[in-house]
Amino acid sequence: MDQSMDQLLTHTDGMGQDNMFSKAWYNEYFTRAYESPTHGRFCEAVYGRDLCQHGMMDVEEMEFLASLLKPDEQVLEIGCSNGRITEYLAQASGSSILGVDYSDVAIAQARRRTLSKADRLAFQCVDLVADDIPGERYDTIVAVDCIYFMGDYGTTISKLHAKLKPRGRMIVSAIQAKEEGDAEDVLQPRRTRLAQILTTLSLTYQPYDFTANVRNHWIKNYDYSRSLHADFAAEGNAFLADARIAENGWFKDHAEGGTLVRFIYVIDSNSKKS
Ligand SMILES: C[S@@+](CC[C@H](N)C(=O)[O-])C[C@H]1O[C@@H](n2cnc3c(N)ncnc32)[C@H](O)[C@@H]1O
Repeated sequence: MDQSMDQLLTHTDGMGQDNMFSKAWYNEYFTRAYESPTHGRFCEAVYGRDLCQHGMMDVEEMEFLASLLKPDEQVLEIGCSNGRITEYLAQASGSSILGVDYSDVAIAQARRRTLSKADRLAFQCVDLVADDIPGERYDTIVAVDCIYFMGDYGTTISKLHAKLKPRGRMIVSAIQAKEEGDAEDVLQPRRTRLAQILTTLSLTYQPYDFTANVRNHWIKNYDYSRSLHADFAAEGNAFLADARIAENGWFKDHAEGGTLVRFIYVIDSNSKKS
C-alpha cells in the first residue's frame, strides 16, 4: 500500500469499512454498486458519466486517455474493476483490451456484460501482486487509480515494463498528496513518489496535469455521498455511501488545502540508458 493510502486508512479506522480496499471489500463494493440505481446517479453526478467508477478519473480525463490509445493496439488495463471504463476506452479508440482485476465479482460482471464484444474485450481475474501478468507483450498498459494498492511502486512498474513491446507505453493515472514530513516539492509533476521511481528506473515519461479535475472530483464526491445517503440506505446500500464518506473527508481536506495533485504519466518502454 502506498504511503498516502496508509495515512488515508488510518483516517478511516472505525468508520465501519473493515479491510477497506481488500479483495473481499472490493467484491462487496462491486456486488452492490453494479445493481444500485443510486450508485449510478452518484457516478453520473460526480464523474460526468455512470461507468460504475471507483477511481477519481472524470469524463474529461477519460476522453484524454482514450485519445492516447491507437486503433488496433493490444492494450492491457490493470485494476479495470467491472470493465465499464475498459469498454468505453475500447469503443472510443478501436483498440483491443484485456482488463485484469483481483475482484472476481467485478471480472464476472465484466465478462457477462461484454460477451458479444469478445473480439475486442477480454477480462481475467489476476492479483497484480501475487500472479504473473497474462499474455505476451502489449503496445500499451493502462493503470487508473490502482497502483496504490499493489505494494512498492518500483516493483509494480518494473513488472509492467517487462510486458511492454519495444516502443510500447505505460499510461499511469495517479494522485499524490502532500503530508507532514513529505519533501516540499513532492507535488511537482517530476517529483511525486511515482515520478521519482520512474527516474530511478531511468524511464522517460511525460506528465499531463489533471489536478484541477481531481480537486473538483473530491468536493463533488463529498457532497453527493451525503446528499444521496438516504437514497443509498433505502436500497439497503448505505455501505456504498459510507465507503465514499470514509475516504472523501481526507481527500476533500487535501483538495481544499491545495495539497493534492493528479497526473497521467505516459511512460516510454525505452529507458534513458538504452
Ligand atoms: C480505486 S479502484 C479503480 C477502479 C477503476 N480503474 C476506476 O478508475 O474506476 C482500484 C481497483 O484496483 C483493483 N485492485 C486493487 N488491488 C489489486 C491487485 N493486487 N491486483 C489486481 N487488482 C487490484 C480493485 O479491485 C479495484 O477494482
